[in-house]
Amino acid sequence: MNNHPVSVKNKVILLTGAFGLIGKQISKAFLQQGAKVVLADVNTAAIPAIQKEFEHYGKENFIAIELDITNEESAANAVTTTVTAFGKLDVLINNAAIDAKFDKSGMSKVNQSRFENYPIDLLRKSVDVNLTGTVIMTQAACKQMLQQGFGNIINVASTYSIVSPNQNLYDFGEGIKNFKPIDYIASKSFIPNFTRYIATFYSKNNIRCNAIVPHGILNDHDESFLHNFSKMSPLGRMCNREELDAPFLFLASDGSSYMTGSVLMVDGGWTAW
Ligand SMILES: NC(=O)c1ccc[n+]([C@@H]2O[C@H](COP(=O)([O-])OP(=O)(O)OC[C@H]3O[C@@H](n4cnc5c(N)ncnc54)[C@H](O)[C@@H]3O)[C@@H](O)[C@H]2O)c1
Repeated sequence: MNNHPVSVKNKVILLTGAFGLIGKQISKAFLQQGAKVVLADVNTAAIPAIQKEFEHYGKENFIAIELDITNEESAANAVTTTVTAFGKLDVLINNAAIDAKFDKSGMSKVNQSRFENYPIDLLRKSVDVNLTGTVIMTQAACKQMLQQGFGNIINVASTYSIVSPNQNLYDFGEGIKNFKPIDYIASKSFIPNFTRYIATFYSKNNIRCNAIVPHGILNDHDESFLHNFSKMSPLGRMCNREELDAPFLFLASDGSSYMTGSVLMVDGGWTAW
């Protein structure tokens, strides 16, 4: 008999950054598989639209709440709200982050100052959210997980937590004019080692912690970006968002019960050469 099924049925998932590209996708996957989901995000303006979009999953199966992971009180409230609504917290997914996007709508917003001139304020802001905010949220969840005697944490990393960006990806025929800035790399590099820190710190407390490394989720990228990406990716293409579902479901399920402190690459082989 398999006591460790790849199932998330009735698991209670608290997901940060839930209103973004990956957050919405995996929330739907969890709900389709019978989990209870707390969609938490700082973007409160989006709550009515989220409620409408998720309505058909049943109001008893999800809630959409305000959360600012940089604020300790807000993080503690998100955990309390989760436990009040669903009785426990099985899985925290640290997904919220500031990330300069290179799809059509995001590119114009990316600060393209070269490294030597990159505004330190933007670095501080990303560190505040992507690094400090992840710690704050994890502290709040661990208090609850220690009290209930079990827990599972999934940190969302990036290939840029592992390797440097190849800035040629952002060269659209004008030399290195566009590039991935340092704030993202600095703040996300912390995630794999933080994952190992939490995994080993709580290894005797029935709390697991793993990281997942998505890469290049297809959105509304233009042809030159797609062309560059496909040349550099071993699989020769970007990731369809639904290709993240199974890896997240697996890490959240008891099927991954012997995994802790690991970094699961879902990057089409990007870091393999
Ligand atoms: N999209 C990709 O190609 C890709 C690739 C690798 C890794 N990632 C990682 O995946 C995660 C999600 O990325 P995404 O593409 O969905 O980004 P996104 O920008 O679409 O969503 C991020 C969400 O986080 C929220 N957020 C920002 N600051 C917050 C705060 N202080 N408190 C709570 N919520 C906050 C935003 O409001 C937003 O809804 C990030 O950790 C990112 O680094 C994304």
